[in-house]
Amino acid sequence: MKGSKKEAKKDTKIILSAPRGMHDILPSERPWWDKIETKAKELAEFYGFSRIETPVLESAHLFIRGTGENTDVVKKEMYTLRTKGGDFLALRPEGTPAVMRAYIEHGFVSAPQPVKLYYFYPVFRHDRPQAGRYRQFYQFGLETIGEEQPIADVEIIYLSWLFLNEVGLSNAHFEINSLGCRRCRSNLRQTVKKYYERRRNKLCPDCRRRLETNPLRILDCKNENCIKLKEDLPPLIDKVCDDCRSHFEQVLEYLEELGVPYNLNSTLVRGLDYYTRTVFEIWLGDNESMALGGGGRYDEMLQELGGPKKPAVGVALGIERIIEELKEEGHKPPTPSRPRVYLVQLGEMAKKKAFKIMEDFRKHNIKLGSSLGRDNLRAQLKNADRLGVDFSLILGQEEVLNETIILRDMRSGLQETIPLGKIVEEIKKRLH
Ligand code: HAM
Repeated sequence: MKGSKKEAKKDTKIILSAPRGMHDILPSERPWWDKIETKAKELAEFYGFSRIETPVLESAHLFIRGTGENTDVVKKEMYTLRTKGGDFLALRPEGTPAVMRAYIEHGFVSAPQPVKLYYFYPVFRHDRPQAGRYRQFYQFGLETIGEEQPIADVEIIYLSWLFLNEVGLSNAHFEINSLGCRRCRSNLRQTVKKYYERRRNKLCPDCRRRLETNPLRILDCKNENCIKLKEDLPPLIDKVCDDCRSHFEQVLEYLEELGVPYNLNSTLVRGLDYYTRTVFEIWLGDNESMALGGGGRYDEMLQELGGPKKPAVGVALGIERIIEELKEEGHKPPTPSRPRVYLVQLGEMAKKKAFKIMEDFRKHNIKLGSSLGRDNLRAQLKNADRLGVDFSLILGQEEVLNETIILRDMRSGLQETIPLGKIVEEIKKRLH
């Protein structure tokens, strides 16, 4: 009996907390989110990106094949489930393969290219929660499919930079590298393998394994010793083919022209398997564990998923991290618009009429406060005072019968009776 009481208490505690690493976005936080989403939408759409929503659940195989079987995201962090019907599904750990799936499934390949898509939605990774690392977090992603020119890479980077600047973060910079095309890859792998073979004993156990399976992954290891060991690695950019080198040089030239701050980081490989050529991350200072965004080119993914061969490039920015940084830097959240007029209703007849009046105001885009559950004049006026409105409208039985309403100036306390049909116009005049 005792045990079951304890169990019930534990259950209650679990039931009454959001799952670990996941969080509510409360009304008080909403102004940050609205501001950022509005900016994302405005910027993306101006530059010709159309919004796409994909399901929260996808076939797990999409990410196994798209993101990469041996990435941490798929191997360690993906939430998977088996449905009653036997389907093997995953909560999307990132947007990119899902957008590519939609591109293939809906025949975007026969639309004029490039196809430019954006999303602003939550993704899920079962990582160890800590500051800036969540299990459910939002990404604003931009993906350009069907354009191989360096200008497409530049557009993605430039828009990420504009976005951060315009929401208030002007001190971020881009760490950038080129991984070359698939043909360059064996060259890069060889270089890294050779380099680390001579330092095998100093590598962490995971990296010793990586040395055999995927040596480039060693460069993404967060172990301090492994990070230090990178120092003398010859620049990988020297190992890519002429075409890839020229592509990269053009990207850098454009970035310089546009004044986008970047740092050549010849050991940047990113944690996902699909990248070719340009890769980048957005950092604040040298804080690599808390990147605000990351992306790059992934010219092979479409074909690897079973679609046509199409080059692609994209980025995803982590919204929680951006909001945290804005707060850290002392930015103030935008103040939500508050009503300047309040409707007080007294009695059944007035209550019935209230919605009609509220609709008249809504159609004229004037915010109207109310508390329809209250009947008492004092309580409603107190509420109006608390909201700091300029005017209250008082509607009692007599006013309903006469088709009038009382307009009360909250500062002076003066009241006058106005025909109901004229009240919106009257308020409009007085609010300016
Ligand atoms: P990613 O680097 O895995 O790339 O994630 C992009 C951004 O999401 C990160 O830079 C970070 O801001 C945020 N982020 C990642 N994990 C977490 C977490 N656990 N908690 C909070 N924020 C996090 C991608 O997802 C690729 N799909 C980007 C891309 C688009 N590449 C090409 N197109």
